[in-house]
Amino acid sequence: MRPSSVLDAVLDRSLVLGYSKIGPALRRRWWPADPPAGALAGQRVVVTGATSGIGEAMARSFLDLGATVHLLGRNPEKVARYAAELRRDVPTAEVVEEVCDVGDLDAVRAWCADLSERVEAVHGLVHNAGVMTKQREESAQGHELGLAAHVLGPHLMNELLLPLLGEGAGTVVFMSSGGMYSAGLRTEPDEIEYRESEYDGVRAYARTKRMQVVLADAWSRRLRGGRVRVVSMHPGWADTPGVTDALPGFGKLVGPILRDAAGGADTAVWLVATRPASALEEDHQFWHDRARRPTTYPVQRRLDPTDEGRFLAYVSHSTDTSAAW
Ligand SMILES: NC(=O)c1ccc[n+]([C@@H]2O[C@H](COP(=O)([O-])OP(=O)(O)OC[C@H]3O[C@@H](n4cnc5c(N)ncnc54)[C@H](OP(=O)(O)O)[C@@H]3O)[C@@H](O)[C@H]2O)c1
Repeated sequence: MRPSSVLDAVLDRSLVLGYSKIGPALRRRWWPADPPAGALAGQRVVVTGATSGIGEAMARSFLDLGATVHLLGRNPEKVARYAAELRRDVPTAEVVEEVCDVGDLDAVRAWCADLSERVEAVHGLVHNAGVMTKQREESAQGHELGLAAHVLGPHLMNELLLPLLGEGAGTVVFMSSGGMYSAGLRTEPDEIEYRESEYDGVRAYARTKRMQVVLADAWSRRLRGGRVRVVSMHPGWADTPGVTDALPGFGKLVGPILRDAAGGADTAVWLVATRPASALEEDHQFWHDRARRPTTYPVQRRLDPTDEGRFLAYVSHSTDTSAAW
């Protein structure tokens, strides 16, 4: 094992060093090269949750590489405001405004049908939209809000955009969280929907972020050998409204060492722009700072295929999509 790999693993396991701005500052010395200038010229990339934090920064990085960026948010005013800002800052920017609540399955169906009428190919789709609520809330279809926005909506989007993604040799990225390590996969419907015990927002968030990682791996296996790749990643700890507003105590504690939002977005941009081939055949596609990371640590219980099957069946059933995993 190379010394850089050992140091990288130490950074990862220490959390504070790897997740903060120290991680990329050190890893930059050995991590894979940046995408070349213009790497995404002529390509379309969709970023969800593009009206704040990591999504905003990511949109800018994709534009810098020449992509046409579809900025997707649920608030039309915010989408219009940020699109105008980008067009002002980057005169050559090709920005398309998209409005959709990714946790509303009817809205996702309608938006995917609309996009499919307008474009022929999508090269990147980043499921970046994220929420953490203090109380248990439900989506339009009666699903726990985080489950709907992080898991069910993105899954349905994958299904419905598959023809466009195939045409564009697309990469789909689920933006998970390092917080997912604290949660195992839930398999009972009442647990998946967080109805079985008193609701805890941080725990609920971690559960759905774990689900994203399991779902991305399942998609990756399903599509292996085809033109579309599906991966998940975590951004580390980035200075965004998502952290400073939703977790003010945590934000204050680690504030000085938070990485900037672009540092949180970096791996998603790199994955879409470079489509690294090296790890394509691996079972787990969970990335951080341009390297694959374990999905469980040695002390944790490994994913049981029966549990996984039950979870995937719930996702397919809830979204009325193919159960052929
Ligand atoms: N920042 C970190 O350190 C960190 C760490 C781990 C994981 N993450 C993950 O990284 C992603 C981005 O986080 P962030 O820190 O940049 O958060 P953020 O500043 O709160 O931004 C979240 C974005 O998601 C949008 N969004 C939420 N629900 C949506 C829905 N149903 N439909 C469409 N858009 C929706 C928000 O739109 P509105 O403005 O309309 O609410 C906002 O644009 C999230 O998935 C988060 O879980 C972040």
